Amino acid sequence: MNELQFPHNFIWGTATASYQVEGATREDGRGLSIWDTFPRTPGNVWGGETGDVAADQYHRYEEDIALMKAAGLQAYRFSIAWPRILPDGTGEVNQAGIQYYRRLAQALHDAGIQPTATLYHWDLPQALEDAGGWPERATAEAFGKYAEICFRELGDLITNWITLNEPWCTAYLGYEYGQHAPGRTDPAAAARAIHHLNLGHGLAVQAFREGNYRGEIGITWNLMLPRPATRRPEDKKAAELAIARESRMFTDPVAGKGYPQEYLDLAGLSLPLQDGDLDIISQRIDFAGINYYTEGAVAWDDNAPLKVRMVPVHQPTTIMDWPIVPDGLHRMLHWLNAELPEVPLYITENGYARQEDIELQPDGSKRILDHDRIEYLRTHFAAAARAIHDGIPLKGYYIWSFIDNFEWAHGYSKRFGIVYCDYTTMERIPKNSYYFIREVIAGHERFQ
Ligand code: NOJ
Repeated sequence: MNELQFPHNFIWGTATASYQVEGATREDGRGLSIWDTFPRTPGNVWGGETGDVAADQYHRYEEDIALMKAAGLQAYRFSIAWPRILPDGTGEVNQAGIQYYRRLAQALHDAGIQPTATLYHWDLPQALEDAGGWPERATAEAFGKYAEICFRELGDLITNWITLNEPWCTAYLGYEYGQHAPGRTDPAAAARAIHHLNLGHGLAVQAFREGNYRGEIGITWNLMLPRPATRRPEDKKAAELAIARESRMFTDPVAGKGYPQEYLDLAGLSLPLQDGDLDIISQRIDFAGINYYTEGAVAWDDNAPLKVRMVPVHQPTTIMDWPIVPDGLHRMLHWLNAELPEVPLYITENGYARQEDIELQPDGSKRILDHDRIEYLRTHFAAAARAIHDGIPLKGYYIWSFIDNFEWAHGYSKRFGIVYCDYTTMERIPKNSYYFIREVIAGHERFQ
């Protein structure tokens, strides 16, 4: 079997997020988000960089879509900036914001590319954070209303919806570790945020079903399934606890299993659950998305918080310091399929950061020889193909990212794109991995 052989109707796409690529943060009535505010505090983002301009996709989406089309990409996962639609998070709809996403979605359709829209990829309207943010129930309710507006205003052009991107990051990085906006460090607030993120997801699904909108709706998780460092039963227990905290807090309620109580008791956390919440959260989803980059390992440690300690895994790492573990993707697809049997899966992100050098060719053209990225993608594609071969209902694969962009607290220092962005001129230069992907996409069609 060709290791990169995929089913005939497999969907290949790339992914980005509004604040990471759009720029134009003060245009057409967009309100402020927590990510406009956070980088302004020195020390929060590498070099004090911001997404004010980013890859300027707001003005250059036509050029970007032409490049997607030339590679044969069939879908584009972007996110809708909540503060473009509702500058204050609730209230008046900003028509200019709606119109931008209508133009973007229409241009994708014209190019034969499926728009896949994420409703929340971290740019919470600042006004909602000022009122308490995700630890407050009102934010989940506001999210449900915002989602409904998007379905109503964009549902004729967009039929593939992702409610939340990586709620783990919003809750833990944003409210417990302070590494992402809004930069809070309060574990109890993070736990409340988890429940309200899950609830917000459920309210969005509810609005989608009640409105009878056409298409599919799902959620994207960054699951963490660390393996036990050894076969010792204590290390296995440590892995179970870590999986409960990092993954089951998000997947269990959606799968209809409530929250992992053993972990909550151990951590001394309680959630602001109200009657009926778990029914709202556990409504049927049409697919689940996985963002996969790495896999870790944990050991039992009596002195560690929750008795769990991360241990080094001795694999080569990327410049993010993330170990490269393609088999972990295969394991994760199996794990999620067991948790949510029958639910179609997508890899909604997978990719590789590196420092890029531009090589000037004798004919004056520019090349970026990102062979290590190609190797990373090739081995992960093969892991995905193996999962499909095993019978996992994996339907598509979005590479992170279409273009280099603002990597949150790392600013522009980490480049994930298959297309290079020259941040001075905004020139787009396809990297060698772009051409590799073009071949994979063409190849899987040929092998059918
Ligand atoms: C996950 C996030 O969804 C995305 O915004 C980020 O840039 C990539 N992973 C890489 O860290």
